[in-house]
Amino acid sequence: MSDLVRFGVSIEEDLLEVFDDYLEEKAFANRSEAIRDLIRSRLAERDWEESTGVVAGGIVLVYDHHKRELMDRLLDLQHDAMDVIVSNLHVHLDHHHCMEVIAVRGGATRIHRLVDGLRGQKGVSHCSIARVGLD
Ligand code: NI
Repeated sequence: MSDLVRFGVSIEEDLLEVFDDYLEEKAFANRSEAIRDLIRSRLAERDWEESTGVVAGGIVLVYDHHKRELMDRLLDLQHDAMDVIVSNLHVHLDHHHCMEVIAVRGGATRIHRLVDGLRGQKGVSHCSIARVGLD
């Protein structure tokens, strides 16, 4: 492990209050430990996004299936991404909302194009991806 270096950070007071609540909730020993964790986590995400190799993950999508033509658009996008979609779980959450968990494996750029396409559809209220490293 390399030497620790100190640096100053300027931050809005109300943002710091929220951050302090977060680190208490997550039981971090101190702000430094929490900041290091967030930096590592963001850099790992960036590595995944910029990876040229094969990556894997799970896309979680929530949408209102009553929105006109939304189901068709979501299905079209998924059929265009058959090369990276491994499996798809559909859950009817309530009268209006459906959740899909889409397992993906393939090129990161290709997967991110799919996520961006899904997220951008009107009627999609949640679209996130859990990234899994394969190294
Ligand atoms: Ni449904």
